[in-house]
Amino acid sequence: DQSKPIEAGAGSEVAKKVKIGVYFATWWALNVVFNIYNKKVLNAFPYPWLTSTLSLACGSLMMLVSWATRLAEAPKTDFEFWKILFPVALAHTIGHVAATVSMSKVAVSFTHIIKSGEPAFSVLVSKFILGETFPLSVYLSLLPIIGGCALAAVTELNFNMTGFMGAMISNLAFVFRNIFSKKGMKGKAVSGMNYYACLSMLSLVILTPFAIAVEGPQMWAAGWQKALTDIGPHFIWWVAAQSVFYHLYNQVSYMSLDQISPLTFSIGNTMKRISVIVSSIIIFHTPVQPVNALGAAIAILGTFLYSQAKQ
Ligand code: 3PG
Repeated sequence: DQSKPIEAGAGSEVAKKVKIGVYFATWWALNVVFNIYNKKVLNAFPYPWLTSTLSLACGSLMMLVSWATRLAEAPKTDFEFWKILFPVALAHTIGHVAATVSMSKVAVSFTHIIKSGEPAFSVLVSKFILGETFPLSVYLSLLPIIGGCALAAVTELNFNMTGFMGAMISNLAFVFRNIFSKKGMKGKAVSGMNYYACLSMLSLVILTPFAIAVEGPQMWAAGWQKALTDIGPHFIWWVAAQSVFYHLYNQVSYMSLDQISPLTFSIGNTMKRISVIVSSIIIFHTPVQPVNALGAAIAILGTFLYSQAKQ
């Protein structure tokens, strides 16, 4: 009687798929909420260096409290761990602040359309810096990604160079972050959740002096007063929401990275961007021209072709 093991095997396969489905749905939902509150905050308080710092500070605090109350078990780390984490944290900091600066200058949808071009950066970095080669189909899939992003950029009604460059720098930084984190997470001494917690803390330490140098307390105090006057006391809740949701979506994404291949992860990330692009266009009434939407659609189709080609 062979039916039982087969059923059990099929059952655990289904359970695994359901689990990954739940991770993905949670990750996208948290990300959509983050993007909306982040943009609401930036519209009223255009200080992306401070809001990026607050997101990291909030996540670090949440994790320190979770460790202290034993809600989560604190990881055992040594100097070597933090040394290997440093380049990951540096890339995470640059990618995070660059994306936030971008979103302070352009529509959320535009930042994410450009960010859907991340696979192209990944291939170019792997080829020119790491010397890896790929099959022709991978290189061909870059054409719609680059072409689609370019079409969306040149037809963007509210194009802004800082906004565009911020998203491009974020792409480059996150490619390095992903390459370095894959190395750092090997061996699995630290879980995905705790790995991201340590990453937040180290990034916070790196970012804080730069945030003070670029913007600084004087600007923040004046901007904060203005935002409170314009929006009202609930502005504080918007800041809290963007900070908490930033941590939660990243934590869930690192927890799912623990369970799935980097390839499945990148497909999930592209689908996440579709939900962010569509929901932010609806919520912020972002003007979109048909040719602009076509550019975005081509770029996203390109990232799917890329994942197929990589498989
Ligand atoms: C950030 O602020 O770090 C960016 O919004 C991150 O973008 P991503 O996680 O969607 O790549």
